[in-house]
Amino acid sequence: MPPIPKGGTVAVTGAAGFIGGWVARQLLDKGYRVRACVRDASDDERVGFLKALPGHASGRLTLHSANLDNAGCFDDIFKGCHGVAHISHVSNYGDTDYVQMVCDHIAKSIDDSETVSRIIVTSSVAAVVSESNFDEMKARPVIYEDRFPDDQNPRRSGYSIGKVQAERAFAAAAEKQGRWDAITCCPADNVGPIQSRHQKNMGPWQHLIELMLLGECNPAVHGYRPWHTVDVRDDAACHIGLLESVFVSNGERYIAYSTDRINIEDVCRAIDRLLPELGYSTPDLTENLDEKGLQRRAERLAVYWGTDLRNDRVRAATGVGFRSLDESIRDCVESLITVGQVPVVLRDGFASRNQ
Ligand SMILES: NC(=O)c1ccc[n+]([C@@H]2O[C@H](COP(=O)([O-])OP(=O)(O)OC[C@H]3O[C@@H](n4cnc5c(N)ncnc54)[C@H](OP(=O)(O)O)[C@@H]3O)[C@@H](O)[C@H]2O)c1
Repeated sequence: MPPIPKGGTVAVTGAAGFIGGWVARQLLDKGYRVRACVRDASDDERVGFLKALPGHASGRLTLHSANLDNAGCFDDIFKGCHGVAHISHVSNYGDTDYVQMVCDHIAKSIDDSETVSRIIVTSSVAAVVSESNFDEMKARPVIYEDRFPDDQNPRRSGYSIGKVQAERAFAAAAEKQGRWDAITCCPADNVGPIQSRHQKNMGPWQHLIELMLLGECNPAVHGYRPWHTVDVRDDAACHIGLLESVFVSNGERYIAYSTDRINIEDVCRAIDRLLPELGYSTPDLTENLDEKGLQRRAERLAVYWGTDLRNDRVRAATGVGFRSLDESIRDCVESLITVGQVPVVLRDGFASRNQ
């Protein structure tokens, strides 16, 4: 199927979210018309930043209340759209009947629109990697889009199950209908600037950086897994690039990842290195491991750092380049202070510039 036309109309689900907010903003910057789908278009704490965009004043950006738990909620919104960026979370990833219901009704709204030619389904690298399956990671350390989490792995989360289910459901619906394509984007760990205060509590990555600014750094979160990062602005560019690309086909998936990775304590240490004028007081790590725990952590880190997660396909299909992680961390911190109003713990002799 053809890509969406330049300057066409795109519906963005989850537009009040961290990634969706950047997709909406960058679509506007590139000249598109945007239908921002949020749960409550009157909730200015969550959607005020969208209403402040210049495209909203002119009418190029419109806001629409839609809760995807309600079948048919996108029927009117998708009519006349050329593309859909389906970025929002669902209410319960582990309930396969519910996930199927949501995919079915969104696919039906696309069918009925008669204008949508492509949907980007936001999945996750969690739907690519074998969760905590260290033997698998050692045996097959090069990880790219052909990999799916092992169905038999008892550690497999509802999140990865639901994401894979949704990818397949949309691709099957698109194939059956024959007039649109479903392309999956699998983002890595998003770091970068928030656009609205409520986004500091989401993430989880920007929220973990918020906790660092408040004086807490716990390397045990996510089982010591190093962050495999992508700047949220580059992730948004990948979503848009996949809507525009002539090199993609129904059912394909693309990992949005910069190839940067970092242990959580090094994210924390980077803050003072990148922003020395701030006077950030880098906290001690809040872990207390005995000999055995230290050994287990070292073993896990060795396996993770021995893997090679690849982004070749998304670069080839979209031409998107990726910012450095330093830039992402710096801009995330500055946005958490200015937009998020986070009160940073400072060293003696430094004062907050936020008042
Ligand atoms: N952040 C990451 O590092 C990362 C990595 C891999 C994959 N992803 C995937 O990327 C997508 C966006 O992530 P994000 O970090 O931007 O999340 P986010 O900031 O939490 O935003 C998600 C949005 O989903 C919307 N939502 C939740 N339940 C909904 C429902 N029942 N009906 C309609 N909207 C609903 C919320 O809308 P309202 O605000 O309007 O309530 C929210 O703004 C998710 O699918 C996530 O799984 C994220």
